Amino acid sequence: MSSIATLVIFVIFAATNSITASAAEVGTEKETVTNLQFYFHDTLSGKNPSAVRVVQPVDAYKGTTLFGLIMMADDPLTETSDPKSKIVGRAQGLYGSACQQELGLLMAMSFSFTDGPYSGSSISLFGKNSAMNPVREMPIVGGTGMFRMARGYAEARTQWLDPTTGDAIVAYNVTVVH
Ligand SMILES: *[C@@H]1O[C@H](CO)[C@@H](O)[C@H](O)[C@H]1NC(C)=O
Repeated sequence: MSSIATLVIFVIFAATNSITASAAEVGTEKETVTNLQFYFHDTLSGKNPSAVRVVQPVDAYKGTTLFGLIMMADDPLTETSDPKSKIVGRAQGLYGSACQQELGLLMAMSFSFTDGPYSGSSISLFGKNSAMNPVREMPIVGGTGMFRMARGYAEARTQWLDPTTGDAIVAYNVTVVH
């Protein structure tokens, strides 16, 4: 019995030790702070929408907060608020209404860059977007390529919204440490 106990303790000690060692290595690496600004074009209307409804909201919330709604988006990201300006990437993923009392969206999206120094790299955004607030902050929880191990935050500000269709242009200001 004691030899099994010793083995278990050794294994736990070894595992703890390797976690400590790798954490220390990460801590000594140089970190970079990058600020990214781009415009997100979410088009629900027309023949070629960039965001489509995949789950309908609960009936009781249809005229209000759209609770239960889930959308899938593949939205272009551009350099300026002009939809015809240069495309710098795409926002691909899901957002849906997760709130009963307000238009609060849970967003789970990958922002992949296709232009400039970050072309081929991506960041992942996951968090609540209180869409009616002038400024919303959401967490950046990771990334790929130049943004491996990224963490940070995004500030979103609606620049334009068509209340009839829901089409919107949103300015994103993202700060990431990577
Ligand atoms: C973008 O965010 C950074 C960091 O929070 C801030 O310093 C800067 O003023 C912001 N820019 C705009 C246009 O909001």
